[in-house]
Amino acid sequence: MTQQERIKLQMNESKSMSWWQREDLCYQDGVLFFAGQSVADLVREVGTPGFVYSMGRVLQNLDRLHNALDDAGLDGRHSVLYAMKANRFAPLLAALKQSGKCGIDACSPREVEHAISCGFNANEISFTAGSLSRRDYRLLSRYEGLFFDADSIHGIRAWGEMFSGTQIGIRVNPGMGISRDGNERLQYAGDVTTKFGIYKEQFHEALAAAKDYGLDVTKIHFHTGCGFLTPQLPIWESIIEQCQWFIEQCDSVTRVNVGGGLGVPHVESDQALDLQLWAQALARQFGDKGLHVEIEPGDYLVKDAGLLLLEKTYLERKRDVMFLGVDAGFNIAPEPANYNLPFQPVPVFYQDQPLQTYHVVGNINEALDVWYENAQLPDMDEEDFLVLINAGGYSSSMASNHCMRGEFKERLLG
Ligand SMILES: Cc1ncc(COP(=O)(O)O)c(C=O)c1O
Repeated sequence: MTQQERIKLQMNESKSMSWWQREDLCYQDGVLFFAGQSVADLVREVGTPGFVYSMGRVLQNLDRLHNALDDAGLDGRHSVLYAMKANRFAPLLAALKQSGKCGIDACSPREVEHAISCGFNANEISFTAGSLSRRDYRLLSRYEGLFFDADSIHGIRAWGEMFSGTQIGIRVNPGMGISRDGNERLQYAGDVTTKFGIYKEQFHEALAAAKDYGLDVTKIHFHTGCGFLTPQLPIWESIIEQCQWFIEQCDSVTRVNVGGGLGVPHVESDQALDLQLWAQALARQFGDKGLHVEIEPGDYLVKDAGLLLLEKTYLERKRDVMFLGVDAGFNIAPEPANYNLPFQPVPVFYQDQPLQTYHVVGNINEALDVWYENAQLPDMDEEDFLVLINAGGYSSSMASNHCMRGEFKERLLG
């Protein structure tokens, strides 16, 4: 039996722990393996709390995106810009640059500076952000070749004052949002007016402002929410349809940037995103228009490529709840608490033992510091460590030093 067949067989045998298992993240003889390494060894070597990232998985995710767009007929007419706000760990950015398969979506001058320090050139970076200060614009003006998407009329004028006669993108807001399971905290557009992008009502004013400064509007950009999966794809296509109107208003547009927002499953009942359907919608809408399609995913590339390694601090029943405490809180991975995105806890050792129910909680003095309610885990009495999956995106990059517990380790694996 080959090693791969052996792994598949073991994944089937440990079914009760299985929805998230895949070839590079699964039990082998009762020990969790990630990116070819025993997680028990990683816990010892890296320490806790610690983030470990699999570059192999990031590159697989990136290739899957490129392949889906190629297969849909957008070969040679698309580019991927990694949204580095999801994870800016320098070795990961450097490895992405080395791959030659993506550029960068940056949202602050410091992100631009950091991407450049990891090897990217300014002309491989697209910048999209709002509420920029004069100082921000001054800093951005240092990077020749950086592409700027304005998300307000104010932004168009500010850029035009520095770089009249150049090309610019405009972030638009189609008034429709998308997110995992309709989660409103992850939506950037919708019935409620948001700060993101320029609405239909102001779009002609925006084009006039660009004209005043001799700016050529060559790109329309939209990003209306995060975490969407297959059930949200009909909304995805409606959003693209809404955005056609903006493109039709200006002849100079050669590119469309459709943002990121592609999600990964967080719980067993989540249906993974069907990339073929996602890409086919893009090809249907833009295929015959001769436009170059940019995407700027963050989560889809890195989220399921990261684990958070944790040490058990205590086990105690309070009333009818069994609490399992760990040595890190929501401040170093804020998504479960802030966005209600569950990061499934997973034991380091597992051999089909019966499961028990735990509330996994962190070490921060806040009521919302709960990692996972009713987690199904084997008896954790004898266990010292566990991990959270899907911790590769918007975790370390959003970490704070709340309660002065902001320290963690990070390591990039092959
Ligand atoms: C403008 C823009 N593009 C891309 C992204 C990346 O989103 P995601 O990580 O959900 O793919 C974001 C996330 O906030 C964003 O604001």
